[in-house]
Amino acid sequence: MASDPAWWTRSTVYQIYPRSFADSNGDGIGDLQGIVSRLDYLEALGVDVLWLSPIYASPQDDNGYDISDYQGIDPVFGTLDDFGELLASVHQRGMKLVMDLVVNHTSDEHPWFVESRSSRDNPKRDWYWWRPARPGTEAGSPGAEPTNWGSFFSGPTWTYDEPTDEYYMHLFSRKQPDLNWENPDVRAAVYEMMRWWLDRGVDGFRMDVANMLSKDVSLPDGLVRPGFEFGDGWPSFISGPRIHEFLAEMHAEVFAGLDRPFLTVGEMPGVTVDDAALFTDPARREVDMVFQFEHVGLDRGTSKWDAVRLDLTRLKRSFNRWQLGLADIGWNSLYWDNHDQPRAVSRFGDDGEHRVRSAKLLATVLYLQRGTPYVYQGDELGMTNTPFASIDEYRDIETLRHYRSALAAGADPRVVMAAIAVASRDNARTPMQWDTTPHAGFSTGEPWIGVNPNFVDVNAAAELADPSSVFQHYRRLIELRRTHAVVALGDYRPLLADDPVVFAFHRRLAPDELLVMANFSGEPANASIDDVEVWRDAELLISNDDGFTMIDDRFALRPWEAFVLRRTIP
Ligand code: NOJ
Repeated sequence: MASDPAWWTRSTVYQIYPRSFADSNGDGIGDLQGIVSRLDYLEALGVDVLWLSPIYASPQDDNGYDISDYQGIDPVFGTLDDFGELLASVHQRGMKLVMDLVVNHTSDEHPWFVESRSSRDNPKRDWYWWRPARPGTEAGSPGAEPTNWGSFFSGPTWTYDEPTDEYYMHLFSRKQPDLNWENPDVRAAVYEMMRWWLDRGVDGFRMDVANMLSKDVSLPDGLVRPGFEFGDGWPSFISGPRIHEFLAEMHAEVFAGLDRPFLTVGEMPGVTVDDAALFTDPARREVDMVFQFEHVGLDRGTSKWDAVRLDLTRLKRSFNRWQLGLADIGWNSLYWDNHDQPRAVSRFGDDGEHRVRSAKLLATVLYLQRGTPYVYQGDELGMTNTPFASIDEYRDIETLRHYRSALAAGADPRVVMAAIAVASRDNARTPMQWDTTPHAGFSTGEPWIGVNPNFVDVNAAAELADPSSVFQHYRRLIELRRTHAVVALGDYRPLLADDPVVFAFHRRLAPDELLVMANFSGEPANASIDDVEVWRDAELLISNDDGFTMIDDRFALRPWEAFVLRRTIP
């Protein structure tokens, strides 16, 4: 760590999914003025940076991750003036605002793609990935796609475009064609757009699937695993051959001359610790931090729809590896949740009897690690997965396309629905639960997606008024990072690696040492550590219980108990 740590080492980022945060005009969809009206709440929580999921003009095929105008605000969210007002209010409060940058793909309605598809000799043809049918096949027939890759949203990654008799690539939906980053004009246009937003005053970017920008241009077929319809294209587009070059170039072209603090975080499915160390090495000037996905893959089997029991020792091993792997060079981002993941308390905690305790525990063990914490809207209330009654209540393209393709392949609808209930992204996309008024205070109109019926018990108004709420626990954790250098910067040392229920670690930065202990189970648990004696008179920094209990030479932990002790190193 450099002697002058970056500002974001002590900061907490709050992710807003604008569509579901707060609706000011009663159309059932959250908007920018809605966010403006809730800034007091975010200030009370104490977060430093807001990250907005996409608010740009979009056909909303993938809720805004399909952009048709990078410099325009979608009318459902408001106008550029609304945006200016939001940004000014955020800055007035001493907070920063980070935009979502979605440049692996555009919408198929973006003028670039409209031009590109218009003819084979259009100057923008090469801005996207166009390829003829596989040799020896008839274009448009099954199996004629240029590669055998499956898209993230079911079906092939290629769509045949009859007018020019070629296929275009889309790793996501057919309305999200992939930009060809090999073409320098594409990169220049993206950098120009980024500078335009920075000139307006935004404070950085969260970069959508940032490690997919570079692809293996030979586009080889992928391995077809048993039971799968499509080949695995990952080796061809995850951290591809030119990815470090592209991100370094972006940094040089966009950020190098910026004379104010900014933040860049690359979303990077499949990224390894070694690669993350390269991406986030400050000397290489690529990105400040990445979102890795290892810990949110441990309760999944062969696909995201295949839920398996979480083994806590694997979760700990994973966190430990990331913490130690980026200890000297690089930086971690810390998250349980975002708009693509089911709710953390339902997934890793207990959303029934122990909802409050386990929500606090999850926040404690994550946000006491070294890295920049990300809070996804509603996590600070302990919001849970939503019990959708039928497929008609789901809105997410990934979920709906999976349902259709699984049924078409002969799967049992009950099995498919059970998997969707656990893993659907819509679990995290239901409206923010503000209070007990109709629609949870999110909107005066009918929300675009159902409100979780538990809003009568789980809501911001109640939690602001309750000193023992999940919200207040989050607030204290966020504050600790600012007030205690050891929380922000201390070394991380794993403890009890093989314990099946207790997650424990030390943090150390002279003169302070911390002990973090958490019982990831609904049963009492015991924990013995080598230096147990030195903690007997330690200060209780934060806990989700009344205090902590030591019996002889061990800690006696109650169900879902978590605490943090601090002592001065002699
Ligand atoms: C990752 C985003 O977080 C997700 O919501 C989106 O569907 C894909 N990238 C495609 O943009």
